Amino acid sequence: MNKRKNLLNQQLSLLQSSSILKFDAEVSLIPGMTKLTLGEPDFNTPEHIKLAGMNAIEENHTHYAPTAGELPLRQAAAIFLKEKYDLDYKPDSEILVTAGATEAIYVALFGLLNPGEKVLIPTPIYPGYIPVTILSRCTPIFIDTSSNHFVLSPEMIQEAILEHGESIKAIVLNYPNNPTGVTYTRDEVVNLANELKKHDLFVLSDEIYSELTYSGSHVSIAKYLPEQTLLINGVSKSHAMTGWRIGLLCGPAEIIQEINKVHQFLITSTATMSQKAALAAFTDGINDAQLMKNEYLKRRDYVYERIQKIGFTCPKPNGAFYLFAKIPEGYIQDSMSFCVDLAQKNKVALIPGDSFGPGGEGYVRISYAASMKTLITAMEKLTNYIENNKKTDIV
Ligand SMILES: Cc1ncc(COP(=O)(O)O)c(C=O)c1O
Repeated sequence: MNKRKNLLNQQLSLLQSSSILKFDAEVSLIPGMTKLTLGEPDFNTPEHIKLAGMNAIEENHTHYAPTAGELPLRQAAAIFLKEKYDLDYKPDSEILVTAGATEAIYVALFGLLNPGEKVLIPTPIYPGYIPVTILSRCTPIFIDTSSNHFVLSPEMIQEAILEHGESIKAIVLNYPNNPTGVTYTRDEVVNLANELKKHDLFVLSDEIYSELTYSGSHVSIAKYLPEQTLLINGVSKSHAMTGWRIGLLCGPAEIIQEINKVHQFLITSTATMSQKAALAAFTDGINDAQLMKNEYLKRRDYVYERIQKIGFTCPKPNGAFYLFAKIPEGYIQDSMSFCVDLAQKNKVALIPGDSFGPGGEGYVRISYAASMKTLITAMEKLTNYIENNKKTDIV
């Protein structure tokens, strides 16, 4: 058996299965667990979108769709991106409809990378960019932003480029950020764009949480750096549509047309009925995120206040639905051991910060995409743990 395993793509041995999903699966086995682990809206898909999906099946939209996506959907996505973020993408040549943001990440990086190249990845960050980088025989170069309140600065980019030089092919941005909830103001985006403009590299900007920006408006780096940017967005988080698997990859036509080959040979096209549902999301549902956002905001404020009271410190998130909180001194500092101990003793599950790369150790990610009732229970359990497990109490 081992001999056969050795015949596989060797890069596979360098990949680790998602530690977030693994941790979630393990804690889910413990009865009575209150979970603030997963990164998906607890809301259901809005009714009018579900209806569009059901009608699509009724009307037999059950055949292959065009590889790049149904044109009306791409047109609606272009209008959405224009109205919301003042972006100009041509529906027929500059937008691909992908199977969630996940496939957009995969096809973009696979399409860009040649063996031996490097990808700059500011951390802590959603780990989904790493496997395709490794499978492409490339190296992720992490930029730890924890010393700067998890904000990537132009200086950090300069430093990384100085150190790694021309082998850098791309930089990944993700804002609003999973796991920190940090996002960027217009000035910060412009400063990053001005720095990135000086370098011959692509920017893969994952803005899947753009509609969940709390104060101020989301500013896309694609506005200031259209030639270099591959923009990722979609309906998973904005419209509570994680299961429908619809994302967007947008960029200059000549790049998107080439990347479309990867997408075509990988999945042919995304599910036709999901595309009809996404069309409803980008047209009649263009502002659907607002109601959910109002709820998330209340929850953010509640959890932020509660965790501060018991000694966690954390940047106040301005987007997405996560808090990234530093474990108070006097408690287990290793984030995995802390989360395991907390789950076993008080039955509340948080994600260990080290799942999100350098800078994440010593932190926990708290997802507030959960009902207020669940959040109240979780905060009571967490408070109880903190009251009873100071290190001096541990024998
Ligand atoms: C930053 C980020 N990008 C991409 C994804 C994946 O999104 P999708 O479900 O649309 O594939 C997630 C999911 O949690 C995410 O947090």
